[in-house]
Amino acid sequence: MANNTVTIIDNRTGKKFDFPILLPTIGQSVVDISDFYKDTGMFTFDRGFTSTASCRSRITYIDGAKGKLMYRGYDISYLANKKTYLDAAYLLLHKDLPTKQQYDAFSYELKKRSFIHEGMKKLFDAFPDNAHPMAILSSAVAALSTFYFDSLDMDTPEEVIEMAHRIIAKIPTIAAFSYRYSNGLPVIYPDLDKGFTENFLYMLRGYPHHHVELSPIEVEALDTIFTLHADHEQNASTTAVRVVASTHAHPYAAISAGIGALWGRAHGGANESVIRQLEMIGTIDNVEKFIKKAKDKNDPFRLMGFGHRVYKNFDPRAKILKKLRDQLVDELDIDSELIAVANKIEQIALSDEYFVSRNLYPNIDFYSGLILEALKIPKEMFAVIFVIGRTPGWIAQWIELKEQPDMKIARPRQLYLGPNERTPE
Ligand code: SDX
Repeated sequence: MANNTVTIIDNRTGKKFDFPILLPTIGQSVVDISDFYKDTGMFTFDRGFTSTASCRSRITYIDGAKGKLMYRGYDISYLANKKTYLDAAYLLLHKDLPTKQQYDAFSYELKKRSFIHEGMKKLFDAFPDNAHPMAILSSAVAALSTFYFDSLDMDTPEEVIEMAHRIIAKIPTIAAFSYRYSNGLPVIYPDLDKGFTENFLYMLRGYPHHHVELSPIEVEALDTIFTLHADHEQNASTTAVRVVASTHAHPYAAISAGIGALWGRAHGGANESVIRQLEMIGTIDNVEKFIKKAKDKNDPFRLMGFGHRVYKNFDPRAKILKKLRDQLVDELDIDSELIAVANKIEQIALSDEYFVSRNLYPNIDFYSGLILEALKIPKEMFAVIFVIGRTPGWIAQWIELKEQPDMKIARPRQLYLGPNERTPE
């Protein structure tokens, strides 16, 4: 019976080093190299952590080859099509789907925390009118830690869940307020008679003392988008949350770090870039020219919404969103010219050797933008929508890290290529 180890031989010395293989429930096994430096005197090198497992986790599973995604063992297509976003958020936080009673209690807990301290509003006044909502959101979430400093040292599971409910409930309000302030509009406070997703659209679109019509199809579409964004294993922004959490910083400082990381166009900022890119391409006649640019090594142009570190097949979330987009074309009056450009890009890229050989498929961001635009959500708010959806996942990952008895501060090493010691003249 082969033992569960790998042996590494340093061919310079012939010395052999054995490292244990840790076995998963499903998916890739890992080689535990925690003692690699102690045993070999060397570091491992893994640019962008492409082959590195940073933690043990029981939250989300991705099979990149098969294009599969599960939250706590439930397939994303089941959750997106048969459950609500609050079901998915509760599942991520509590490891099981909620009963009706648990769902109602969870929804109430979020509603009663959806208001923000009036003192927070002074923060919005400090930003210039054209401030990007992601900059406002990451600042405001960090500022929340000044109002809830007691969350720095929580002693009971009840305190942790209170912290979780608070941030999940307040981020949509902060997001809506930041949009309203940026556009010189009166802020709309949460309406406790509305559900989580409907309330966000209401705070974004409403006017004081004026009934605003929100169609069920719009609320349902956004709720599905939130569910699809709720968690995604150890991506860049979740890693940022875990790194900050490992130093015992305030949980809202960790979430603020996650927002900062998500903002990048290589990550959560891609959905805004996709729409801007489709608009720049403009017509299907221009698609070939931009595909050529995307393939040119000397051209920094990238096809936004294409490619993924893990999925080497269709992103399952992209498949669900593409179907939803096509269902909503009429109901939401989605821009058919931009759909034609997107479909042309997809048709060419999925048969072009450059993309096929690199396993570059459409990802979640390729389709979400067109639906969000049709929901009258401004482009600069697209990454904010991603944050609202992802917050329960970030919090679940934060809780899992803190529950690990052997949690260590994140502190990678380096391959030093700088100068040798220099003697000052
Ligand atoms: C999200 O990690 C997550 O799970 C993230 C996310 C989540 O839910 O949290 O799924 C959300 O961030 C989705 C990804 C959104 N980003 C984009 O759509 C931006 C465009 N995509 C690329 O920037 C890129 O594909 C990444 C960042 C998504 C993945 O980058 P990798 O894994 O580091 O891959 P790579 O850059 O090493 O690319 C491999 C090859 C390279 O060519 P070669 O050097 O082999 O010749 O593929 C090429 C790249 O040049 N390539 C692209 C491309 N993406 C990769 N070429 C043209 N257009 C692209 N979009």
